[in-house]
Amino acid sequence: MSTSVWVTWPAIAKAGGSIGIVIGLLTLGLQREDLTENNLIATEDLSKANAEIVCDERSLTARTEDGTCNILDNPAEGSVNRRFGRNVKLEAAYGETENDTLLEPNPRAVSNELMAREEFKPATSVNFIAAAWIQFMVHDWIDHGDGDANNPILVERPAGDPKGPGTMSIKRTTPDSDRTAEEDATLPATYRNINTHWWDGSQLYGSDKATNDSVRAFVDGKLKVEEDGTLPTDYWSNVPVTGFNKNWWLGLSMLHQLFTLEHNAIAEMLKQKYPERDDQWLYDKARLANAALMAKIHTIEWTPAIIANPVTERAMRANWYGLTDEREGRDKVQEILDGLSEGITSSPLLTALLSSRPDLIEKLDDPNFIDFAIGGLVGTREPYNGGTDYSLTEEFTAVYRMHPLLRDDVEVYDIGSAEVARRIPMMETRDGHAEDILDEEGGERLWYSFGTTYPGSLTLHNYPEFLRNLSIPFSEDIDLATIDILRDRERGVPRYNEFRRQIGLNPITKFEDLTSDPKTLEALKRLYDNDIEKIDALVGQLAETVRPEGFAFGETAFQIFILNASRRLMTDRFYTSDYRAEVYTQEGIDWVENNDMKDVLERHFPELKVSLTGIENAFKPWGLKIPDNYQEMAACDKQTLLWQNGVTQTLYEQGERPALQPVDIGGLIDSILWKKVNRNEDVAPLGYEKPIHPYGAMATVAFESSNSHPYTGIFEGAECGLVRLSVTGDPDDRGFAPGLAWKTFIDGKPSSNVSALYTLSGQGDNHDFFANELSQYVSAEVNDTLGSTALFSLVTSKPTRLMTENLAETQANGEVEATPKAPTQIYFVPTQEVRQRFASSAHDFRDDLITLQSGTALYDVYATDKPIRTSIFGWINRRYASDRRNSAIKVGTMRLTSEMTTSAFGDGGVFFKHQRYEDR
Ligand code: HEM
Repeated sequence: MSTSVWVTWPAIAKAGGSIGIVIGLLTLGLQREDLTENNLIATEDLSKANAEIVCDERSLTARTEDGTCNILDNPAEGSVNRRFGRNVKLEAAYGETENDTLLEPNPRAVSNELMAREEFKPATSVNFIAAAWIQFMVHDWIDHGDGDANNPILVERPAGDPKGPGTMSIKRTTPDSDRTAEEDATLPATYRNINTHWWDGSQLYGSDKATNDSVRAFVDGKLKVEEDGTLPTDYWSNVPVTGFNKNWWLGLSMLHQLFTLEHNAIAEMLKQKYPERDDQWLYDKARLANAALMAKIHTIEWTPAIIANPVTERAMRANWYGLTDEREGRDKVQEILDGLSEGITSSPLLTALLSSRPDLIEKLDDPNFIDFAIGGLVGTREPYNGGTDYSLTEEFTAVYRMHPLLRDDVEVYDIGSAEVARRIPMMETRDGHAEDILDEEGGERLWYSFGTTYPGSLTLHNYPEFLRNLSIPFSEDIDLATIDILRDRERGVPRYNEFRRQIGLNPITKFEDLTSDPKTLEALKRLYDNDIEKIDALVGQLAETVRPEGFAFGETAFQIFILNASRRLMTDRFYTSDYRAEVYTQEGIDWVENNDMKDVLERHFPELKVSLTGIENAFKPWGLKIPDNYQEMAACDKQTLLWQNGVTQTLYEQGERPALQPVDIGGLIDSILWKKVNRNEDVAPLGYEKPIHPYGAMATVAFESSNSHPYTGIFEGAECGLVRLSVTGDPDDRGFAPGLAWKTFIDGKPSSNVSALYTLSGQGDNHDFFANELSQYVSAEVNDTLGSTALFSLVTSKPTRLMTENLAETQANGEVEATPKAPTQIYFVPTQEVRQRFASSAHDFRDDLITLQSGTALYDVYATDKPIRTSIFGWINRRYASDRRNSAIKVGTMRLTSEMTTSAFGDGGVFFKHQRYEDR
């Protein structure tokens, strides 16, 4: 029997294919059922507050500013200033004080020894937008307020502290001033949420009327925005005027601007459809849709990116689509259910996998449970609070302390570049600086930069230094890591092992369950007196190294997440019974359903379109992704996509360029060559290596037609293409054999490609790439040392000849020629600009090529239509060849439209198809 303390569903899900996924979902469903039953604890009697609230007509179909009247017969539920609830039993939720363990072990020592970032550890499955996003969400959901300065918690700096000896003074969380004597006797300390608990966009709209008034334009339902699209700022602090503007930095400036603009776009759309409606109506509807869009993005984009596991991905999709009565949404849920329930009842694998879970086998007969397990909300048409008034909880707050996600600097890139143009320490992106940076750099560059860089990973030893030395306006510098530890203790979030017990997880039995890293183990044991029960909740969570596959955080945080993620949706009238056209308008519902984060970014920052092409999830690192409709794209867009997201992202830095290697003849197997001739895609399959010409340099290129020739198709001119110059193998090994591959992109159609060589065996010792002209037809040679002729003979009857028909059949604009005219042979003749420019002595030809700049005329292209004839006599062959060459006329010039570069994409990613004799 396994002695692991960790949950088993990820291993089962992994081992069991789609049945495994079903089991994973069922297990999560069961866990959620148990948690809903045992771990929802309200700390407030709402009857007094309810008595003071009158729900007016407007609140029937609109979110109120303070979150009241979401649940009409319990109107205070989830509103602003309501207490945080609990997810652990009240007996376990009593806070620690200085009289007992509040300062044990010293939280600053924990910060110094276990949290401090030694070197930046990135989380490479998500991008930096994901870090800013979750803070943006947290600011919608929770905040405990500023704290009470009168009675601070005093923490002595431990010996050896980087700041030297002294005392840190930390404000205590503002206590609840509104408790009854009976509550004092029966409840642990309680705290109030200064935001509404609902998922209502209160970080943009505020949680009270005055804040709400300050952000509204009161014209056509819009929010206030400056003429340049940025948010109005507070005169003194330069921080935007928005719903919640604490802990401000650049990432928040970007997100608040983006979704304020989105609100206004929705309001504008509604105004067009409903011109007779007033500002209030338009505002209310736009808010409903904007908040729902953010909730949807979080549920089916952010979450599956951060916990990228097939089980959770499906669970989250069902979570969202379970909400809707819309046909399409229902269909999506049904699809998930159908796909997953296949074979559910009779599979021997299922029975075997569930042998240790009789509780689950029992549940398999209950269709409602399966629905609930998979969808959570499928079938839930009325708001459902599980019998406990809805509120977010102290434990929820605790697991979202995800500060290690932050980097210590923001790297700014030019769009399409992988070179850091500016590095801004995070501290300098804070507060009023954020808007200045947004002004200086512009949104597009910043979004691009966030999309292509990584956040920190949620582990120990990865807490950003700037947050351990954080300056807060009108306050002394704070160490947020110390505060994170202290807050959980103060607010009665149990220490790690008890926390796990309380939420239905196995306690750990030894420090080694958490990690095998000797240094971390030593520090953990020393700081926590060798007692696993003393480990802080946050430390344990960050230390968990066994995590479900694809998870950026561990199972302890996930357990709290399972419970609260669905609850935020399930309990909200506007995500259940009132998520419908009569309340939102049909256009509002459509807006939510038809848009995602990528759409929002593209709408407000259209320059990002190329960077986002092919990206399915805007929170995953942006890079080269080939979209399904790639071939349908315009020629120059395909070029930009491959160049910007392929080449420039993988440029070799100094010293990174691979050494030229001899051709691995053994590796030139039939299947590789076959791929080479049968694919018309522009990107090679993963792991494909160019067997004969592994390393070279590449540029974008235009073909300028001389227009005085009979040839059609791209011979009439092509603006967007790629040229790759390379040599066969290692010149030291077998002589210098230059070659060229040219790709022309075509609007809406696959590209045309041709390759050319000087001869199969090259030009001997001459290392000047432009010493000779190249052609797509080379005579077979007696001294073909490489055996290339023989190799290519495996796949074509004319191994030394590539065809040019494909170049002539279609114009670059996609127009098919009625009577195509192709040459039989083309010649790439180095122009004056490049001839005799480089040395012939032995050297790395790529050093020459990368000096070629955009605008260089590389080759004049000549062509002949004289038939290709061959003879068994070499001298006759040579005469035929010179006759053809003499008859060739100039058809145009190939000119670089970028500099020549060397990149991993150029060497391993781009794919040039060979046009065989048989394919003509
Ligand atoms: C520059 C970025 C950030 C700054 C300056 C910042 C700063 C702060 C500060 C000053 C607090 C209050 C500490 C206290 O209790 O006295 C706090 C709390 C918190 N932060 Fe951050 N934070 C940042 C980013 C994030 C991110 C990325 C997350 C991710 C989820 C996050 C989640 C939280 C949570 C959950 C709390 C507790 C809120 C509460 O107690 O109600 N923060 N942060």
